[in-house]
Amino acid sequence: MLMKKISRRSFLAAMAVLAAGGLAGCGAADNGLQIIRIGHNQSTNHPTHTGLTAFETYIEEQLGDKYDVQIFPSELLGSQNEMVQLTQTGAITFCVASNSLLETFSENYTLFNLPYLFSSAEAYHASMDDPAIVGPIFESTKQAGFEAVTWLDAGTRNFYTVKTPINTPADLRGLKIRVQQSPTNVRMMELLGGSATPMGFGDVYTALQAQMLDGAENNELALTDNGHGDVCKYYSYTMHQMIPDILIGNLGFMDGLSEEERAIFDEGFQILNQTQREAWGTAVEEAKDYAQNVQGVNFIYPDIAPFQEAVAPMHEEMLEDYPDLAPIYELIQAHNAEYAAQA
Ligand code: GCU
Repeated sequence: MLMKKISRRSFLAAMAVLAAGGLAGCGAADNGLQIIRIGHNQSTNHPTHTGLTAFETYIEEQLGDKYDVQIFPSELLGSQNEMVQLTQTGAITFCVASNSLLETFSENYTLFNLPYLFSSAEAYHASMDDPAIVGPIFESTKQAGFEAVTWLDAGTRNFYTVKTPINTPADLRGLKIRVQQSPTNVRMMELLGGSATPMGFGDVYTALQAQMLDGAENNELALTDNGHGDVCKYYSYTMHQMIPDILIGNLGFMDGLSEEERAIFDEGFQILNQTQREAWGTAVEEAKDYAQNVQGVNFIYPDIAPFQEAVAPMHEEMLEDYPDLAPIYELIQAHNAEYAAQA
């Protein structure tokens, strides 16, 4: 179950494979087909891999005389940060990146990283499905050489720890908690009183095991699919973020598609989005069951109000720093009102 961390040497080997294929997002295969390389950092059990496999099947059914879609899971092409750079340059065609990381490429993505932005999973889904909300944000990375083409569910992020359960923000004091590499996540930990340790996803298991970290925060699949539940026995439903994953495509490749091809790819992105989301709910249930019954993880349901209060200033800070995002923030509030959390 545990995703193996790719070594520097295998990363360089993967790069050599890409170089042999022409180092183009769409290198030519021996059979004359153009290769579409898609990288992601999850295992082949993960809903994202299932969704991408459905995308591959659809594109090859429709355009198989031209394209060969190849999926590289488990950080085979490097960490998410490295894959984003490979997508920018066109060395690979697509990759899945957490919205957190995209904040360093366009400040607009900061919005979806805000803690307690969405009032419920329904409000989160409705917001991410709303073109008036995601459209301007997805457009904004074109200057960086890539286009965001669809979002994927990554559930709700919660704290989990090795030794002591998190019931209140005070329990985080002095603990080294891994966060994703984004200024928003570092600020969040600062306000919650923990010590933020930003690092790539693939490094977290070893750091937990070596006790370089006291805990981390993520959805339930990190416990099982990535083995974090082998080390961390307390998982607290602080529900502090719902951060989507985003499929990004190299801009040169996207712009080079004919209108008919673009329509087929757009349909493929929809199939990916739907398939991944359908698989998500079951995957979370199975992960919880395995974590509880096999790994011995305790699930804790703390009062989230004190966590919410601690990070509330981040909403005002974001609106002050990025006033252009205010109208989009308001649209999200409308979805929040419509799908308020059930008490
Ligand atoms: C989730 C998310 C990944 C991300 C990871 C992380 O698993 O789906 O895209 O890399 O969290 O915490 O880094």
